[in-house]
Formats: sequence, C-alpha cells, structure tokens
Amino acid sequence: MLTTQDKENLIRRAKEARELAYAPYSRYQVGAAVLTEDGQIFSGSNIENAAYPSSLCAERVAIFKAVSEGHRKLQAIAVVTKNGGSPCGGCRQVMREFGGTQLLVLIADESGATQEEFTLDELLPRSFGPEELVL
Ligand code: THU
Repeated sequence: MLTTQDKENLIRRAKEARELAYAPYSRYQVGAAVLTEDGQIFSGSNIENAAYPSSLCAERVAIFKAVSEGHRKLQAIAVVTKNGGSPCGGCRQVMREFGGTQLLVLIADESGATQEEFTLDELLPRSFGPEELVL
C-alpha cells in the first residue's frame, strides 16, 4: 500500500520530468514516474521526433528506463499533463507487462486540481499479459 506521501512524491517526480518534455510538434508535454517493487523511482517525459512515429510517450520512457536498469516489477506510475489526460492504449499495454493488473495508475494535471487513481485493470480490462503465453 502506498501512503499519501508516496503518491505525492511520485506525482511530484512526474511533474518535474514533464518540464523536460521534448514536444516541439504537439506542444503537449507529458511527465511520468514509476515506483519499482523495491521503492526506487524512475521518471521520463515524452520525446518527439521530426519523423513523428519515432516519438516515445513519457510513460514508456519511464518504464523502459526502470526495466533497462533491471527493475521489472512496478507498483505504481504517475502521469502528469496540462489537463489530466489519460494514458494511451499502447502505454497501458506496456504497464500491464511490468505492473500487472493491480498496478496503481495516478493521473494528475499540472495544477493538482485533477488527481485520479485507478488500477491498470480498470483502464485495460480483460487484458492480455505474459501469463497467457504458455509456450
Ligand atoms: N503522449 C504521452 O507521452 N503519453 C500518453 O499516454 C499520450 C500521449 C505524448 C505523445 C506525443 O508526444 C504527445 O503526447 C501528443 O500525443
């Protein structure tokens, strides 16, 4: 269980990451921060590209930073945008891989007026995950 302080801390780190967004094309800045199973935080921002499809969402940048440093189990992710926007479908699927259905997803806007929390299962019901692949 995360404390209120844990949640505030994660949202603060996502807000800070948002300041570093590279979004010259959409001008929609996104920041994300993930909390690993062992309590570490990795953050990321969206990184766009002149060849648009080569862009990456903030959530995936944060998750891939954690995973590439050996942290494959996530407890929570915070996502901050100007208007409290919801994570895209592709990012939800990546959250499913490393956070499972019970991953806590915190969504906030830049002012703190919008602050919502969901489980990944609420955002991506009946999801496909690693357990389905019985090889
Ligand atoms: N974006 C994210 O970073 N996360 C999402 O979940 C939705 C969209 C980014 C991608 C692009 O840089 C900008 O927001 C506009 O779509």
